[in-house]
Amino acid sequence: MGDWVIEPATVEALPDILQIEEACFSAPWTRKMLEAELTGNPFAHFLLAKRVTPGEAGSAAIVGYLCFWVVFEEVRLMNLAVIESMRHKGIARALVMQALEVGVAQAAMRAVLEVRASNHAAHALYRSLGFRDVTTRPTYYTNPIEDALLMELDPIVSESGRLTQQAGREGGRIRPLQ
Ligand SMILES: CC(C)(COP(=O)(O)OP(=O)(O)OC[C@H]1O[C@@H](n2cnc3c(N)ncnc32)[C@H](O)[C@@H]1OP(=O)(O)O)[C@@H](O)C(=O)NCCC(=O)NCCS
Repeated sequence: MGDWVIEPATVEALPDILQIEEACFSAPWTRKMLEAELTGNPFAHFLLAKRVTPGEAGSAAIVGYLCFWVVFEEVRLMNLAVIESMRHKGIARALVMQALEVGVAQAAMRAVLEVRASNHAAHALYRSLGFRDVTTRPTYYTNPIEDALLMELDPIVSESGRLTQQAGREGGRIRPLQ
């Protein structure tokens, strides 16, 4: 059994992120798209979840990530994935909560995201964090063509405050953002 931490991504993580992206999505972001978020987008933040194996100093494999934007009063969750072998450990929940905290620290009031209509795991994750369904965007996705569900958490503060206590029970550690 290992432990995991969350920390900001650097561009050196790009190959690992791309590998996870291609394993997790039917229409993955390209290397160029990921690189633009890591290096060229002033609104973008990129968090990594890393598995730390006890006894192996310095060994920390990337097991998940979250790309999000803070655009004035809004946090936009853009891209989230956790490798299959590390799912159901609270890692995605911790990544989203960290993003909400970063957003609140920058005066964001609400959070929004789009998710494939068939992605029941992600719906359950976001609902467990207090997000609610707002509307459907017909044929928003390609490969395969599918509707998007627009979800929103408004306001952020009360919900993320409630959920910080839940994350404490999960056992992951969160490193402060630099
Ligand atoms: C969706 C995804 C990010 C969840 O990652 P995860 O680390 O396993 O999620 P967590 O362990 O933090 O789960 C938190 C909550 O989400 C819900 N959830 C997560 N996976 C679920 C599943 N397969 N079925 C039902 N609910 C699920 C549960 O409510 C869970 O809380 P619980 O463990 O107390 O029941 C992961 O399955 C994934 O990477 N999927 C492929 C990529 C993807 O769909 N990304 C999201 C695009 S919007």
